Parts: sequence; C-alpha cells; structure tokens
Amino acid sequence: MDTKKKIDEIKELLGEHNIWRKEECLNLIASENTTSPSADNVAVSDLSHRYAEGKPHQRHYQGLKYVDDIEVLTQELMKEVFKAKRVDLRILSGTLANAVVYKGLLNHGDNIISSAIPNGGHVSHTRHGICSIMGLTDFSFPFDNYEMNIDVDESIKKIDEKDPKMLLFGASLFLFPHPVKELVDAAKEHDAYIMYDAAHVLGLIAGGQFQDPLREGADIMSASTHKTFFGPQGGIVFGGESIDDEEWKNIENAIFPCFICNHHLHRLPVLAQAAYEFTQYGEDYAKQTIKNAKTLGEELYSLGLDCMAEHKGFTESHQVVVNVEKNGGGKHVAETLEKNNIILNKNFIPGEKVTKENMNNPNGIRIGVQEMTRCKMKTDEMKQIAELIKKVVVDKKDITEEVKEFRKNYTETGFC
Ligand SMILES: Cc1ncc(COP(=O)(O)O)c(C=O)c1O
Repeated sequence: MDTKKKIDEIKELLGEHNIWRKEECLNLIASENTTSPSADNVAVSDLSHRYAEGKPHQRHYQGLKYVDDIEVLTQELMKEVFKAKRVDLRILSGTLANAVVYKGLLNHGDNIISSAIPNGGHVSHTRHGICSIMGLTDFSFPFDNYEMNIDVDESIKKIDEKDPKMLLFGASLFLFPHPVKELVDAAKEHDAYIMYDAAHVLGLIAGGQFQDPLREGADIMSASTHKTFFGPQGGIVFGGESIDDEEWKNIENAIFPCFICNHHLHRLPVLAQAAYEFTQYGEDYAKQTIKNAKTLGEELYSLGLDCMAEHKGFTESHQVVVNVEKNGGGKHVAETLEKNNIILNKNFIPGEKVTKENMNNPNGIRIGVQEMTRCKMKTDEMKQIAELIKKVVVDKKDITEEVKEFRKNYTETGFC
C-alpha cells in the first residue's frame, strides 16, 4: 500500500471509529468519559505546538505569557472544585501521577500497603507496575470479600507487622468508599503517608457524592482526569494541608525535571472547562451516575445475572461488577457483548486467585455508567441496558441493530 493510501485509510478508520463509538455503541468501560462540546472547542489550539518546561512564570522557554496565566487559572479552578491547598496539573496520566508521588515522598526500600489487583488495586500500586522500578515493596490490604472492602481490623495488624511508609487507598474496581478515616491513626503511629488514588472516582468526589479523602485524612490525592471526571486524558496530584513546602517541592521536582518535561499544554483549557462544568453540574452528575449504577445492578440481578454486592445495594460508585463464571467467563462475555456493540471489560473479582491460566479469562466483568449518564441516560435507560445485556449473555441473541437503535437517541452530552 502506498503512503497516500495508508493515510487515507487511517482517516477513514477514524471516521468509522467516531461513528461506531459515539453513535452506535453503549460505552460502559468504567475508565472512560466524553468531554463537552465547549471543551472540544478549546481542545484544538496552538497550545499543542508549544513547550513549557517548568512552573508558570518560572519557565525554561520563552513565549508563554498567555500559557502561564491559563495554567494558573486552571490550577485555581481545580483547587476550588476539590478544596485542595495545592495542585499540580503537569502530569500526563494517572499512572505517572502515582509515580511522581512515590518519587517525591518515598525512598527505595520502603514498604507500602495497597490493594491487590483482584480486590481492585491498579497495577501501578503493585510490584507488577511502577513500584518495582521505584524500589518499593508492596503488601496488600486484607480484604473482606463479603463487605467488598478493605478489612480495617486485619489491616491494622498488617500495618503493625509491615511498618509501611505509605497506605495507598483507591482502586480500579471500586464499589464502596475505602476506610481512610478508620486507618488514619494506624498510619500516624507508623509515620506513614496516606495517599488516595482517585483516578476512578474523581468526578464523584468533585460532585460531593463519594468520600472526601483530603478531609478524611489523606495527605495526597492522585488521579486521572478523564474517568468520572470528564476532563482531557491526563493526570493530576493534589496536596492536602499536611504536606509541607519541602514535601511538595519534592513532588514538583519528581514531575519536572524527573518524569515530564513538556506537559502537553492543550489539555489545560479542556481541564479548566471540565472543572467549570463540575462547579455548575457536578453534584447532579455524580448523583445521577450513582443512582444509575445502583439501578443497573438491581436490574441485572433481577434478570438472573450474578451482580455482586447485592446485600450492600450493589454499589456506591459508578461501577457494578458481575460474576459471569456461569455465563462462560469474563473474556467470552466481554467479547460477545462487543460483537453486539456493548463495550465493557473483563475483570478479576474480589477473592479470585490470579494464575497464568486465568490471567486472560477472569470471572468477572466491570460495568461503568458514567459515560452513558453523561449522554443523558437515566434509570429507565439503565433498565433497558440490563435487558440488552441479558439478551446477549443469557439468551444468546444477536442484538446489534437493537443496540444501535437505542443508542442513537443519546448522542448529546449533558451536564454542560
Ligand atoms: C486506580 C487507578 N489508578 C491509576 C490508573 C492509571 O490511570 P491512567 O490510565 O490515566 O494512567 C488507573 C487506570 O485505570 C486506575 O484505575
């Protein structure tokens, strides 16, 4: 294929992707969202051509007199939304946000306690990800499979045993708020930092409907800016009252010059627009998202699917988790749903053992409703989604056209 044909094909594929995912699919991946038309309007600009190493008004490059003000105003908006003393927006992803905190606050050889992957932990909280290159040894919080949460009493024992320098809360599979308050004293006894990875729940926190880590005892909060928070793809770190100037400086130095030189400036106005939208619509959005997730859980359960945590109302976040072992396993179910334009991901479920054999075929699927909520879907639509999922997973029907027909009524972005 010649080069012209290749670029033409790429453009065609892009067009097809846009129609497929934005108009024809039910997007239920728990880590995705869509930006608003106002955010999209400021997403393409000259900023994507520029460099800005360093902090606002202390740059190593010229030409940034407007960028400096844009960055400072965006910081102010984000601090306001999260009532945070400090923020740094220069981080390109949630994974890197975790890395800069480890680098800024911890030393090689330190122990940390975080959640194991089947219990919701992210790979960046473990030796399988950046912990190993940072020389950290990760231990897992004991987990209560019935409560679907960190076991507080057992964790206190583990903290005494492992003498960690950091307790890391927050997760990828994240149904219920983590016991931050309950473990503050144990952390203090060991002089351990409390870090909260809000990648998944940042928008729910912004809307005041999940937990409020910085008020519950977290010293530092990292996140992605594009999951329940509908900003551009990127990362962020917030510092709480307990972080002193020197500790914050160490984090800033871990960002630049250590991990990130240019921080992809075109993200800034998009993030600012998202922050503004959260000041106006964040509470309604977070409430509707959680209500939708609960309804989806109830409906799936009543249709015979093993939606987990029924005794706890299924969820208090944007996610529900279904054990699909009896339906053919996570891989089969996720792939079959994809063929029917229902997009979600396979997932380990709490208590499941990770082995070489099941690595690619865990027992669960994770469903996130935050994007479809943004597309103005409410509880009635969640009931319809549950029915559509059941038709594929239980009745083995092909319903692609039905899904397309349903989705085409929800292509506008709400809460903006
Ligand atoms: C809890 C948690 N932290 C960090 C990340 C990484 O975020 P990013 O994909 O922005 O690097 C994820 C990704 O989904 C996550 O679930």
